[in-house]
Amino acid sequence: MRSLLALAALVLSACSISPGGNNARAEADAGPRQVAPILTGAEARDWHSFARPEVARVTHVALDLALDFEAHRIGGTAALDIQAADGAEEIILDSKGLEISAVTDATGQALPFTIGEGDAIRGRPVAVRMGAARQIRIAYRSAPDAAALQWLTPAQTAGGRHPYLFSQGQAILNRTWIPTQDSPGIRQTWEARITAPAALTVVMSGDRLMPEGEAAEEGRRAFRFRMDHPVPSYAIAIAAGDIAFRSLGPRTGVWTEPAMLDRAAAELVDTERMVEAAERLYGPYRWGRYDLLVLPPSFPYGGMENPTLTFLTPTFIAGDRSLVGLVAHELAHSWSGNLVTNAAWGDSWLNEGVTSYFENRIMEALYGRERAAQEAALSWDSMQRDMAEIGATTNGTRLHVPVEGQDPDSFGVTIAYDKGALFLRTLETIIGRERWDAYLRAYFDRHAFQPMTSARFLADLRQHLIRGDAALEERLGLQDWIYGAGVPANAARPDPRAFAGVDAALVAYEGGGVPPAAYVDWTTAERLRFIDALPRRQDGARLAALDDALGLSQSGNSEVLFAWLRLALANRYQPAVAPTERFLATMGRRKFVVPLFQALMAQGDWGRPIARRLYQRVRPSWHPVTASSVDALMRG
Ligand code: BES
Ligand code: ZN
Repeated sequence: MRSLLALAALVLSACSISPGGNNARAEADAGPRQVAPILTGAEARDWHSFARPEVARVTHVALDLALDFEAHRIGGTAALDIQAADGAEEIILDSKGLEISAVTDATGQALPFTIGEGDAIRGRPVAVRMGAARQIRIAYRSAPDAAALQWLTPAQTAGGRHPYLFSQGQAILNRTWIPTQDSPGIRQTWEARITAPAALTVVMSGDRLMPEGEAAEEGRRAFRFRMDHPVPSYAIAIAAGDIAFRSLGPRTGVWTEPAMLDRAAAELVDTERMVEAAERLYGPYRWGRYDLLVLPPSFPYGGMENPTLTFLTPTFIAGDRSLVGLVAHELAHSWSGNLVTNAAWGDSWLNEGVTSYFENRIMEALYGRERAAQEAALSWDSMQRDMAEIGATTNGTRLHVPVEGQDPDSFGVTIAYDKGALFLRTLETIIGRERWDAYLRAYFDRHAFQPMTSARFLADLRQHLIRGDAALEERLGLQDWIYGAGVPANAARPDPRAFAGVDAALVAYEGGGVPPAAYVDWTTAERLRFIDALPRRQDGARLAALDDALGLSQSGNSEVLFAWLRLALANRYQPAVAPTERFLATMGRRKFVVPLFQALMAQGDWGRPIARRLYQRVRPSWHPVTASSVDALMRG
C-alpha cells in the first residue's frame, strides 16, 4: 500500500511543463529535438540554480564564441530556445562573473534584463523580460577568473609552444562561461561554433561537424559541434590546444598533446573492449563516439565524463594499465550520469555511486573477478575511513544528503561513491545477479535522457523489481540505505580472500618483520591495501627501510606514490619532502593535492612551513577547483 501511494505521488510530481511556444531552430535539416521532462517533486528542487523551470526553461543552446588567449576570455553570443508556461514573460538564467552586454529576441529587438544580487556559491540570477519571445540571444563574455576555465601558458603544456584552454563544468561551474539554466535537471541540446588561433585544435563534448575546422578571420580557425541529445548543462565541455588524435577502435580514440600520444594510447588500448563490455551489461552506448582527452597535469579531477569525450588526468598513466578503472568509471557515466542524471546535487550518489558500481562490473568483465574484488575491497576500506573521519552517524554519511547552502564543488569525502556502489552491490547480492542486471538495464532504458531523484529511484525499484514482495522489501532495507546514516547491517562485505596474501604479509611486517619481498609481484590494489593498512604511526627507521626496499618514493604509479607520501608526511619523515615537492610540481589533481597539504598542515611546526613554501611555489599552476580548495585549507 505504501509503495502504491509513493508511486502515485511520483507520477503526479513527474509531469512535465506544457509544451508551448515555437522552438525556433537554427538549422532546418534536423528532425524535431527531444525535450526532456522537468521533475517537480521536492527532491528535484535544485537549490544551486536560480532557474524556475516550471515557468520557463531552456531547451537548446546555440553558442557562437571566440577564445581569447590574451585576455583569458570567451566571448560572443548564446542563443537560447525556450519552452514556457502559457503567458510566461520572464526567464531566469544562472550566471557567475559573466559580462552581458545585450539581450535580444531572434529578430534583434532588445529585451530588458536585470542581474540580481545572488550569492557567493550560486552566482547571480539573470532575469530576462522575454515577453512573447521564445528564443533569446545573449551577447556576453566570461571573466578572466571564470572558475570553469583554466588558461595554460605554453610553458604549462607538454609541448611548450602553444597555449591551452580547458573547461570543467560539473557541478555548478559552467555558469561562469555559458549564460543558461545551470541545473542538472534541466536538460538541453546544444550546438556551437568556436573560433581559436589557427594553430590550435578545438574539441567539445559533442559531435564534430568539421574535423579540420574552417578558416575564420585573421589567422583563426572555426570549429563546429552539436549535441542532439538533451544533456545536463554541466556536460557542455571545451578544450583547445596543440592536440592530436589517435584511433583506438571503430568508435573510440584519444586526443592529447603530440608528445603524450604514444603513452596515452598504450595505456588506453582496452577502451573499445570496455565499451563493448559496458553495452553487454546495461544496454547500448547511445552517444556515437567514445573518445578521451588526456589533459595537461593541472586537470583538477581524475576524470570527467563529458559526453562523447571523457576528460582524463595524465596521472592515470602508470605504464601497466593498472589505473584504467578511471576509464571504466567515466565510461560508465555514459549511462549513470549522462543518460540518467541526478536532478539535484543532494542525490549525486545516483551519478557517482551507480557509476562506481558499474565501473567495477566493467573491470570484472575485462580483467576478471579477482581484480574487481580487490578494487571493491579498496572501496570498502576507503568508505570505512571516511565514516570514521566524519562520524558514522553524521548527515554526510547519507546517500541522499541535504546540500542547501553548500558548495557542491568544494572538497568533500567520497561517501556517494563508495556507499552508493556498496548499496547496489548489496542489491545485486540479495536479488541475484541475473535478475538485478536485467532490472538495471531496463532502468537505464526507462529513464534515458531524464533526471532522477532518490524518491524516483525507490519508486522505480518498487514498481519494477520488488512488485509488492514484502519479504524482499524487508530484506533490502531501501529506506535505511538511502536516507539513513552509516552502513546498514545487510551490506555486502568485501571478499575476505581479495587481500589474503597482503594481509598475511601485513601481520608479519607489523610483528617486526622485514618489508615484504612479495611486494614486487603485487597488483596496484594490493600495494595500496598494504600501504594504507599500515599503522599510521611509523618511526623514521621503519619508513626508511620500507622506502629502500619497495622504492616507494620513486614509484611511477600516482596512487601508490600518493598513499606513501601521505603516510610518510604524517610521520614527519623528512626524506619524503623532496618527492612530495616533485609530485606537487608535476600535477594539480585535487584528490592528491588537498590531502598532501592537509597532512603537512596537521604537522604543526614541522609541516606548516613546508606547506607554505610549496603552496607559494605550485599554486600558480593550479586550476581554480584545486586552488580554491587548498586556499580554504591554508586559511583555516
Ligand atoms: N563526475 C566526476 C567528477 C566530479 C564530481 C566533478 C563532482 C565535479 C563534481 C568524475 O566522474 C569522477 O568521479 N572522477 C573521479 C574518478 C573516479 C574514478 C572516482 C576523480 O576525479 O577522482
Ligand atoms: Zn564519477
